[in-house]
Amino acid sequence: MEQLILPSFAKINLVLRVLRKRRDGYHTLETVFQTIDLHDELTFSFYPSTHFHLVLDVGKSEIPADSSNLIYKACHLFHEAHPVPVRIEVQIEKRIPLQAGLGGGSSNAAVSLIALSRYFRRPLKRTELLSLARRLGADVPFFLYGGTALGTGRGDRIRRLPDWPSFPTLLVHPGIPCSTPGVYRSYDESGLLTRNRDFIKIHLDQRPESLKDLVILIENDLEQVVFAHYPELDSIKKKFVEAGAVTVSLTGSGSSLFGFFKTDGDPGEAAKKFPASTVARFVNRAEYRARVFGGK
Ligand code: C5P
Repeated sequence: MEQLILPSFAKINLVLRVLRKRRDGYHTLETVFQTIDLHDELTFSFYPSTHFHLVLDVGKSEIPADSSNLIYKACHLFHEAHPVPVRIEVQIEKRIPLQAGLGGGSSNAAVSLIALSRYFRRPLKRTELLSLARRLGADVPFFLYGGTALGTGRGDRIRRLPDWPSFPTLLVHPGIPCSTPGVYRSYDESGLLTRNRDFIKIHLDQRPESLKDLVILIENDLEQVVFAHYPELDSIKKKFVEAGAVTVSLTGSGSSLFGFFKTDGDPGEAAKKFPASTVARFVNRAEYRARVFGGK
């Protein structure tokens, strides 16, 4: 038996701009992803077997343990591309809140591809792995990179950005499950996307050096429609500001919010004002590679 115990990191979207609606129903985005140290833990146990068999143990989590789970889908897609018999047991310790805009499911899917790739000694080319990731979801390819990255297309065309410096961030989890397709539908109905927007903001060599540089960049086009549905999120945003935040934003399609605080420092004090919150730091690409891909 061989075992791999891997962290499956969450992401926040420091920038999320919706540029246009595509014919396939998706939206063209310009987004900056950032991995943070909040993570699930996935334990993959591999046993020799005469056929392919997968068992998911979701523990106390509410996520499904069946074929609708993205880990299941990822392992099966990998097996289709590299059909070698093995029995895989995956134990999932969930810590990333669900339907929160933190990419937990997408990260789990990418880490599953990485785990199988590592176990089988990397039988697929990087481009093949990327194409499997794309089939699993728009956010999945990012988690084959980690760190700071620009996502274009559906958010699935990834370009690495120079690591942005880490500023401690406070995440607040309102516990409202936000459905991503539902949020994009509301966005379409809202008429906010009245004309196609241009790619403008993110230059590949841009690297905010100070918290002030970072704050200028932060925006999320989906925030307005999500706040219209859930006014309590707007109240949480106000509470952030009262607690001294210099900026607050929704991540992805919500419902978690993240904020940065001026004192360069520890948002731990502010965290005490929010019942469900996490203080997180950025995970840069080198750390991501070392902890998920196992070094190099
Ligand atoms: O690819 P994924 O399954 O994560 O996307 C979930 C849904 O989010 C899509 O079905 C689509 O409704 C919406 N979406 C979108 N544009 C994107 C990403 C997601 O409209 N760029």
